[in-house]
Amino acid sequence: MTLLRVVDRDGTEHEVDARTGLTVMENLRDLDYGVAAVCGGMCACATCHVYVDPEWAAKLPAPHSDETDLLQDLAERRPASRLSCQIKFTAELAGLRVEIAADE
Ligand code: FES
Repeated sequence: MTLLRVVDRDGTEHEVDARTGLTVMENLRDLDYGVAAVCGGMCACATCHVYVDPEWAAKLPAPHSDETDLLQDLAERRPASRLSCQIKFTAELAGLRVEIAADE
């Protein structure tokens, strides 16, 4: 298990034993305070929206155009916005910190 730090919608930070090889969304969706992930990771719903800690943002692969297109339509979009279903959680990302965005 690998550390994933998750800030929920109430601002509480949790330390999650996350599984590598899954996406960040797949690690988040089973948590009580996690994401809905309505489309199951097909990059079609944006209900897996998170804000990546600035310290980590540059360590992630750049988003594909499908992801940026979807993010562009979100009212709660910030520079640190990503779709967690598009981020593969790897051992190199141990300690990654994400904040779950508000529901839209
Ligand atoms: S789960 Fe739907 S866009 Fe990520």
